[in-house]
Amino acid sequence: MRIALPLGLAFAAMVSTAALADDTNLPPKDVSFSFEGPFGHYDRAALQRGFQVYKEVCSACHSLNRVAFHTLDESGGPEFSEAEMKAIAAGYQIDADPNEQGDIFDAKGNRLKRAGTPSDYFPGPFANENAARAANNGALPPDLSLIVKERAGGAHYVYSILTGFGQKPPADVKMQTGMYYNPYFPGRQIAMPPPLTDNQVTFNDGTKATVDQEAHDVATFLSWTSEPKMEERKHLGFDVMIFLLALSGLLYLSYRRVWKDAH
Ligand code: HEC
Repeated sequence: MRIALPLGLAFAAMVSTAALADDTNLPPKDVSFSFEGPFGHYDRAALQRGFQVYKEVCSACHSLNRVAFHTLDESGGPEFSEAEMKAIAAGYQIDADPNEQGDIFDAKGNRLKRAGTPSDYFPGPFANENAARAANNGALPPDLSLIVKERAGGAHYVYSILTGFGQKPPADVKMQTGMYYNPYFPGRQIAMPPPLTDNQVTFNDGTKATVDQEAHDVATFLSWTSEPKMEERKHLGFDVMIFLLALSGLLYLSYRRVWKDAH
């Protein structure tokens, strides 16, 4: 009797994980990123390439509405020059404030726009959630600003989703119309069409634009948008360790001095 209960529980646990395993997605792929570990830092070139991938590919469907243009030239990020950052901002059209007549639409009914400035945030691709869903088979492309923080597996998850297309769905997955098989996404089918192909973008620094490279770079960029102050945090942690070590040394020396004559 004493042993029957634990045995029963163990058996029940085995049965339930077997049932779950049948329905769950794969764990994210184990790729390495320069920013992992206590001394990790972002690779500037990868951040700049990843920004390019976001801008030229992902921004057609996904917003990035917590990121302001002025962060693009700050230290710890992609570190574009100030002129480059301003040019990036000016390349976007932002909803304008009401004009002198109080209108926000022109005579033809179009929303009044103005060029972006460094203090603006990335504008999203759709006017509202319904428009986004209508264009995406009913699914909502989530805002990507914090996606790396919000999902288990972080950058590895994002990388795995982007490189996880193209396999034949196994017999147990009933594909719904307009969905794509992706074993890394919960439910293993996703409404996002495979967004990346080889040479989808042309990198200025001459890096070969394979799907793998594009996915790795954009996952790096989205890690920075999720945690723009990571490098500062790690530096501070390191400085605090050095300080504590020095303090321990000083305390030890004063301890020796105070007790010097006590014997
Ligand atoms: C044609 C539109 C489109 C493009 C382009 C696109 N996506 Fe998506 N994406 C979607 C939609 C729609 C979903 C929601 C899928 C669902 O819920 O089934 C999605 C989901 C995702 C998810 C999973 C989010 C989650 O909830 O876990 C990630 C990560 C993602 N996209 C990243 C990207 C990145 C990075 C790019 C650029 C390389 C990109 N997407 C390009 C439409 C798009």
